[in-house]
Amino acid sequence: MVRDYHDFLKEIIIPEDKLQQRIKELGAEISRDYDGQALLIVCILRGGVMFLTDLIRHITTPVAIEFMAISSYGRGARESTGNVRITMDLISDISDCNVLIVEDIIDSGMTLASVMELLNARKPKSLEVCTLLDKAERREVQVPLRYRGFVIPNEFVFGYGLDIDEYYRNLPFIGSVDLSKYQVG
Ligand code: IMP
Ligand code: MG
Repeated sequence: MVRDYHDFLKEIIIPEDKLQQRIKELGAEISRDYDGQALLIVCILRGGVMFLTDLIRHITTPVAIEFMAISSYGRGARESTGNVRITMDLISDISDCNVLIVEDIIDSGMTLASVMELLNARKPKSLEVCTLLDKAERREVQVPLRYRGFVIPNEFVFGYGLDIDEYYRNLPFIGSVDLSKYQVG
């Protein structure tokens, strides 16, 4: 049975208005940096979707979007090893494009490091990353984060694209889980 999130919500760590305000700032920053240049945004499914659709509304330079889905095989359901497999690839060729990867959250950095290696092999003109959340203290591999919404503490979070066992992505805020009330995974 899927439970009501109120049963295990510990705290709303980023409310909707703060998320939207910061996303607007990120959009303005990206617009300045890529002024006059076309941009190809690669959204990593599924967590990045909410962020993508809000972010691109604040980008003023011409934007194309592409999607990619990956699955990582890990030590457990909540940890990645960097052994990623593309389960849905991009449709268009990214060579000579200014590519910006849009991600929901960077944790160990393993997933992103693998995605960057895969995409770099296709020779884009440039390749940068925009992540909404950064669990910086969990980092195991260094990944260059050109744009970053918020640094968050090491807690399991959900909402605004992020799931707990595939649910709750639709919530408009980022909340943390009370692990005594919900056993994640
Ligand atoms: P990494 O490879 O360890 O950086 O893992 C990144 C991926 O793990 C993200 O794209 C999310 O799908 C997932 N993830 C990491 N932390 C959380 C969290 O707190 N809530 C929901 N998903 C998370
Ligand atoms: Mg997930």
